[in-house]
Amino acid sequence: MKNKILIVGMGYVGLANALMLSQKNDVIIFDIDKMKVYNFNRGVLPLGEDMYETFYNKYRDNIIAISDESQALSNKYDFIIIALPTDYDQDKKAFNTTSIEDLIVKIIDHNIDTCIVFKSTLPIGFTRLIKEKFQYDQILVSPEFLRENKALSDCLNPSRIVVGGNKIYAMKYVKMLKNVSKIEKEKVFIMNETESEAVKLFSNAYLATRVCFFNELDNFSLIHNLDAKTIISGVCSDPRIGDHYNNPSFGFGGYCLPKDTKQLANNYPYADNLFSAVLNNNNKRAEIIAQILNRDDTIKTIGIYKLAMKKSSYNCRNSAIFNIISKLQNKNLIVYEPLDKTNFNNLKRIDDLSVFKQMSDLILCNRYDALLEDVKYKVFTRDVFNEN
Ligand SMILES: NC(=O)c1ccc[n+]([C@@H]2O[C@H](COP(=O)([O-])OP(=O)(O)OC[C@H]3O[C@@H](n4cnc5c(N)ncnc54)[C@H](O)[C@@H]3O)[C@@H](O)[C@H]2O)c1
Repeated sequence: MKNKILIVGMGYVGLANALMLSQKNDVIIFDIDKMKVYNFNRGVLPLGEDMYETFYNKYRDNIIAISDESQALSNKYDFIIIALPTDYDQDKKAFNTTSIEDLIVKIIDHNIDTCIVFKSTLPIGFTRLIKEKFQYDQILVSPEFLRENKALSDCLNPSRIVVGGNKIYAMKYVKMLKNVSKIEKEKVFIMNETESEAVKLFSNAYLATRVCFFNELDNFSLIHNLDAKTIISGVCSDPRIGDHYNNPSFGFGGYCLPKDTKQLANNYPYADNLFSAVLNNNNKRAEIIAQILNRDDTIKTIGIYKLAMKKSSYNCRNSAIFNIISKLQNKNLIVYEPLDKTNFNNLKRIDDLSVFKQMSDLILCNRYDALLEDVKYKVFTRDVFNEN
């Protein structure tokens, strides 16, 4: 059976879910960004994964984008899936959920009898309060675990499906997902909404903690002149630890790990919880790297080789390297970032790689690239395994 679905927010999460669901459902995407909507409807997609275009062209009769909110809310839907941003508000020390709360009021006002699914990452306890406030039980929390550079393929082959809320609605939602993606029975976890919110925050806080653990091992190796790669290989041969997600870096960053860890740290009634320490430690990592570079007076110009966190990524949002850049003193900074043309903190861009190499006394890169092989002697990276 075809469902009629409204997806709110055409970002990484909303777009990937919309394309996946469009295989067998009628999907409307609502986004306030008029240009994004206009472009989408003429086939210019906001994100660059190859598969997006294939899906779009194949299922375009099933999917449309709109930017008019009252038009979006004038239909009847089986599901309204909310993929709005929940940025961390530094003053309130919590996610900003205002746009989600405003939308819920409108959905209730329009008397749309529908099942609402929160894909946005939420503070623990948020959904229960909303359900009580509006006396509306048809709300599910299904956190998203996709990676930005593999968003659609992660949706189609999810690591697990977590759904929190009333079991009857949860089963209906899972049934719809099973129709369009590869989900094995044992990978479906149905729980209450608060537990579901917690799964998301603890998952990302674990990843942040693990990044910090191996970076702290690497800090120790740098201070004591030891080979981090050798130590990590020895540590990770224990199957309880596992030989994965252990490559040192300039710190955790991106959209989700920092903000989700901050939210979780502040969900605790005591300040000295593990996750507060993890956040401080991530900052310490940047300080240690910056100190190493600052104390070498022979380095006048530092070339930043790419700003994105990962190889081939075009997304520089909250990249860890910015934290290091902010701590560098008395250096000329130039940047080579071919995939993102944004003007970052007025860093001087050098678009010609050979000029960039020539101008740099030292090249700082989070992830090593074979294109730097001829100037390897200038490269400073902690990418000991040469992987993302
Ligand atoms: N990016 C990820 O890898 C990822 C992974 C898992 C979960 N999440 C969570 O999913 C949520 C969405 O993240 P994202 O990365 O897709 O966001 P995004 O910033 O990529 O996109 C958000 C979209 O929402 C639109 N928007 C903003 N306010 C709106 C409003 N009031 N009405 C309609 N549209 C509006 C924006 O124009 C934008 O297109 C966040 O809570 C995030 O924490 C993100």
